[in-house]
Amino acid sequence: EKGGYEHFMLKEMNEQPKTIRDTISPRIKDGRIVIDELGMSDEEIRNINRIHIVACGSAYHTGFTSKYIFEGMARIPVEVDVASEFRYRNPILEDGALVIIISQSGETADSLAALRMAKERGVKTLGIVNVVGSSIAREADKVMYTWAGPEIAVATTKAYSAQLVAQYLLAIKFAQVRGKVTEAEVGEMLRDLKKLPDQVEMLLSHKEKIQKFANRFIAAKDIFFIGRGIDYAISMEGSLKLKEISYIHSEAYAAGELKHGTISLIEDGTPVVAVATQDALLKKTISNIVEVKTRGAFVMAVTNEGNTEIEKTADYVIYIPQTNAYFANSLAIIPLQLFSYYVAVGKGCDVDKPRNLAKSVTVE
Ligand code: F6R
Repeated sequence: EKGGYEHFMLKEMNEQPKTIRDTISPRIKDGRIVIDELGMSDEEIRNINRIHIVACGSAYHTGFTSKYIFEGMARIPVEVDVASEFRYRNPILEDGALVIIISQSGETADSLAALRMAKERGVKTLGIVNVVGSSIAREADKVMYTWAGPEIAVATTKAYSAQLVAQYLLAIKFAQVRGKVTEAEVGEMLRDLKKLPDQVEMLLSHKEKIQKFANRFIAAKDIFFIGRGIDYAISMEGSLKLKEISYIHSEAYAAGELKHGTISLIEDGTPVVAVATQDALLKKTISNIVEVKTRGAFVMAVTNEGNTEIEKTADYVIYIPQTNAYFANSLAIIPLQLFSYYVAVGKGCDVDKPRNLAKSVTVE
């Protein structure tokens, strides 16, 4: 059932073009975003005054990404919490709030408890869920399914990609209804969204190159990921993927925070993955790359096609194709997933079933 692949994770990574297509295409009709399952009138969408995104692990990272998009594009304030914090912090949930719970399995105990708490407090809830008929899907007021199909590998890849694009659609829809984007901008974003599957396919086809590169990191003790804005969100996911399957210690930092402590950990040869897809922040991130290089770091950068100036500082550069800056996570995460996978394979780890982890965390 691995369809000829060595691991479910590799199979599922390769399914991402289809997953993205299946999540997007039923929701674009005649050039418009149609999310019927949302069951919200335009007036209700205009009246949303705050979004709370609640999830765990990688699902949380997709929410952390879409905070930048909902706020930047739709101008709706967003709070993002890990579910185990949200449920115990007595959050302020007011009229006009929308609570979005994101979960592949739909059974994560803390996410389900957070959903129940939000419902008890009388706020609207929306589940972005992969498993049809799961607890979160049944209990949320509304459900938007990510059509990723069954995900077997413990480390999520295709469900993550589906969660991201589902949130792009929501954010564009909200921005449009609230008059924050022009029709022309929406048209351009939809064109970029439709290109994502082929672009992901292309990035997946470079796996041998990444495998060769990854083999050099098998003995690494620590690997740091840095980025700003959405690149920070991408770094968090890249870091989690790596540590969970390869057991290499890894942390993600907002690049601008390095000099507030972390940079003291950088010594000769310390690997640093710098994510630099946000062109507006490129110069700032490059100056952070220079800072770690000066302390001896070995830097692998992920950036947009055309940003060749980064080659002056980084030791190894992976380029992703041009897309809307808001959608960069969908592309940049692909080489990082492959990187984690091949480091873990190279170390002989049990990639699909990493130690101490369960696919669905049904206890808190
Ligand atoms: C990491 C991973 C986990 C899950 C988290 C939430 O690769 O898979 O971090 O993302 O346990 O699970 P769901 O989405 O099922 O609620």
